[in-house]
Amino acid sequence: YACDVIRNFSIIAHIDHGKSTLADRLLELTGTINKKEVGRNMQVLDKLKVERERGITVKAQTASMIHQYADRNYLLNLIDTPGHVDFSWEVSRSLAACQGALLLVDASQGVQAQSISVFHIAKERGLTIIPVLNKIDLPAAQPELIASQMESTFGINPADIISISAKTGKGVEAVLQAVIERIPPPPQSGPKDPVKAFLFDSLYDRYRGVISLVNIQSGMLQKGDRIASCHTRKKYEITDIGIMHPEEVPTSSLHPGQVGYIACNMKVSSEAHIGDTLHRVGEPVEPMPGFKPSKAMVFAGIFPIDSSDFPKLEESIKRLTLTDRSVTVQRESSSALGQGCRLGFLGTLHMDVFRQRLEDEYDANIIITAPTVPYKLIYRDGKEVFISNPTEFPDVLGVGSKVAEVQEPVVKASIIVPEEYFGEMMDLCHSHRAEELDHRYLDTGSDSSSSRIILNCVLPLSEVVTDFFDQLKGRSSGFASFDYEDAGYQKSDLSKMVFLLNGKPVDALAIIVHKSAQDKVGRAWVKKLHTVIPRQLFELPIQAVIGKKVIARETLSAIRKDVTAGLYGGHYERKMKHLENQKEGKKRMKRIGTVDLPQEAFFDILKK
Ligand code: GTP
Repeated sequence: YACDVIRNFSIIAHIDHGKSTLADRLLELTGTINKKEVGRNMQVLDKLKVERERGITVKAQTASMIHQYADRNYLLNLIDTPGHVDFSWEVSRSLAACQGALLLVDASQGVQAQSISVFHIAKERGLTIIPVLNKIDLPAAQPELIASQMESTFGINPADIISISAKTGKGVEAVLQAVIERIPPPPQSGPKDPVKAFLFDSLYDRYRGVISLVNIQSGMLQKGDRIASCHTRKKYEITDIGIMHPEEVPTSSLHPGQVGYIACNMKVSSEAHIGDTLHRVGEPVEPMPGFKPSKAMVFAGIFPIDSSDFPKLEESIKRLTLTDRSVTVQRESSSALGQGCRLGFLGTLHMDVFRQRLEDEYDANIIITAPTVPYKLIYRDGKEVFISNPTEFPDVLGVGSKVAEVQEPVVKASIIVPEEYFGEMMDLCHSHRAEELDHRYLDTGSDSSSSRIILNCVLPLSEVVTDFFDQLKGRSSGFASFDYEDAGYQKSDLSKMVFLLNGKPVDALAIIVHKSAQDKVGRAWVKKLHTVIPRQLFELPIQAVIGKKVIARETLSAIRKDVTAGLYGGHYERKMKHLENQKEGKKRMKRIGTVDLPQEAFFDILKK
């Protein structure tokens, strides 16, 4: 296929606006999958339980289609993008392999927070945008209203909008035509030019290891070619090459402009850096601009409920990270929870997905600590240190401390919500330390009774990773949509809160809190500990402290537990047996100072 018959494009949309359904329809119309396989995409993509439960796609799928139009055969490469805010950075990478994008908007719901963020990413990359209104078959669809919304929000000419129903297939043929007619072909390049392959995604195959998805920017790649990564400088030999149609179909080569897969004995996904440029060994090229490694923003410790399960847990984590390049892993040991791992994730959804996969696919019984974001400590001598574990946070700050300033990551957030929930959303933002709040009406000029508002603010990331999303959905009856992007670091008044049992700190429970929330958080945790911790043989003070200052306290009254009470004096053997049993029970206990805690108690304390 020569460049002029190739089109590389993506579908970009807010969650649930019908991306997978439209992709299915396009694959079906072009004969890439046949009708009885309809829903195949959904089934493949939704195979993880967590994806099914949340109804979202985490792993993207890319496919090449062949379509005849005006007597010519075109090669249409659909480059799929992951559909969640946690992965917005990956969306931006995938789009670097395209010349155009279908901006899909649900005709009953209208423009949502992620419609706006993905639109801007596509625009910045200079892509041709084809606006598509989906779900026009729905009785609640308001195509004219939403079209004018798209005009006012994106500056899109309503005459350019294609109206479709991805469900029934109505109008989808016109989408294929528009892809061919409106999106420019990839830049021309000769097969003799130096090889420049852009790596935009990777898959993991249990037998062959990592499969990289690439877009050939120039030159030509063949099986047996020796290639190298601009980023890691590692060298590989191509053992298999081909296109996704929609599964892997080997071809002898990949030509300029094409999108396809290569297998080259990469062992772990972390070797396939998204955004990397591959070149022929001995023929270095200028890497594609804008490469940055994916950055973990949410960290948590993962420990086995039964400490002796650690080797098995570690092995399971290792296997899972083979398939998910963006999770970072470090060993961690806690005096309260024993041996574990500290993992870094792109966001909280990513963390939930990982946790659920550990539980479902590897049958792991785990305790996961409260999530924390990476904080920046600026020392008086100017040194800057990032920490992702509350135990590394200084006990006291201020005069006498070597740390001059603490900074926390913040994000630029936008929320789109119907007018009647505006007050609730303002409250939500205020209670999560929002700054620079501003808002405007989204549906200017329309006389619709249900106007929607877009609310922008700067939020600390630590506020977003707790309960923000659940509250946003709950307090808006599910109508609010939310998106955020990285906005750097900001000075903040934070301290480490530690919980003491009988005067001894429990390391795994340490958290970092903002001054404004200290009392509330301290009281809530102490209360929770009070209900979860079993009573001991002595009175047990439970305290939340910052430095030396006690923020909250509860006292757990004592019980006297005599397992031999009620046994007759003569039954010596029986008495011994009971004492033995009690000892066995003790083994599963964690000893913190003088306090015995069953490991399960931590599970109850730390579960959401
Ligand atoms: P993510 O994978 O989470 O990004 O969602 P998505 O954008 O891929 O949405 P998906 O294709 O899974 O569609 C979401 C829901 O909308 C599904 O229940 C679809 O059946 C439904 N849907 C998609 N297109 C149409 C349409 O044209 N009409 C109607 N009535 N429903 C549709």
